[in-house]
Amino acid sequence: MKVIRDPQTLQKLLKGSFARGKRVGFVPTMGALHPGHLSLVTQAKKDNDLVVVSIFVNPAQFGPREDLNKYPRPLKKDLALCRQEKVDLVFLPGPKDMYPQGFSTFIEVEGLGNLLCGASRPGHFRGVTTVVAKLRNLVAPDTLYLGQKDAQQAVIIKRMVKDLNFPVSVKVLPVVRQKEGLALSSRNAFLSKDQVSQAQVLYKSLSLAESLIAHGQRQADRIIRRMKELIGKKKQVSIDYVSIVDSENLKPINRIGRDCLVCLAVKIGKTRLIDNLQVRI
Ligand code: PAJ
Repeated sequence: MKVIRDPQTLQKLLKGSFARGKRVGFVPTMGALHPGHLSLVTQAKKDNDLVVVSIFVNPAQFGPREDLNKYPRPLKKDLALCRQEKVDLVFLPGPKDMYPQGFSTFIEVEGLGNLLCGASRPGHFRGVTTVVAKLRNLVAPDTLYLGQKDAQQAVIIKRMVKDLNFPVSVKVLPVVRQKEGLALSSRNAFLSKDQVSQAQVLYKSLSLAESLIAHGQRQADRIIRRMKELIGKKKQVSIDYVSIVDSENLKPINRIGRDCLVCLAVKIGKTRLIDNLQVRI
């Protein structure tokens, strides 16, 4: 497995004989890898001749009071996992490699970036789209693999790829969960045992929504109210949003008459968690 830190070296390598004639799959990550990330790698291995994983905790997508410095960076373990999964190349740039002095170009997907998580994390998605565009340009993969766990991120990246004609296809894979339902996340490492047990209410509330819809409830506000009541029983969990939105434009819907996304964000202590459920009608 190759481990490369320098962007120019990476780009040269991937333009040369190493990748010539090969299908390249790319999984961008911020590390602290878990089975959710690895599900993307497994799929990429199936679909491609060469799999590239990037590990980069991207400063541009963290707000000034967010957890950039605290974000877990278990590099040795991550590299061991990549080796175990037979990743061909890990790209491991530092902040100065990605944002050298004078860096001043950003990509912003208008509209979508200010909704949901974007409302409480201004600038977050601008940081995400900018780094994903840069990484795509460096790796030049055939397919980019993303998780449905970050549903809004996936919608925004797909929009950018379409709008800017990036020559890449995007595959979005299902949320990987613990057996009790909690979605795997690098940030779960911040939760105490008690907080993990409180966090199970997120998936429980999504399951409640699923069952209400299955029983014919179509009024979004009623479903949201029931979800909030359930989450409200957990004293340590504070709600940022619970929304039911159109799967493509992410705008709230009143009546469920087409495919949509039930999504939520909460804080447990200082840890922000998100989850979502795709509803197919
Ligand atoms: P990160 O949070 O490390 O996630 C990397 C990829 O793994 C994302 O596409 C995310 O949706 C996916 N993922 C995370 N948890 C998952 C789970 N439980 N099930 C399935 N997929 C899961 O998302 C980012 O990093 C960054 O914003 C990034 C795209 C790398 C840009 O910096």
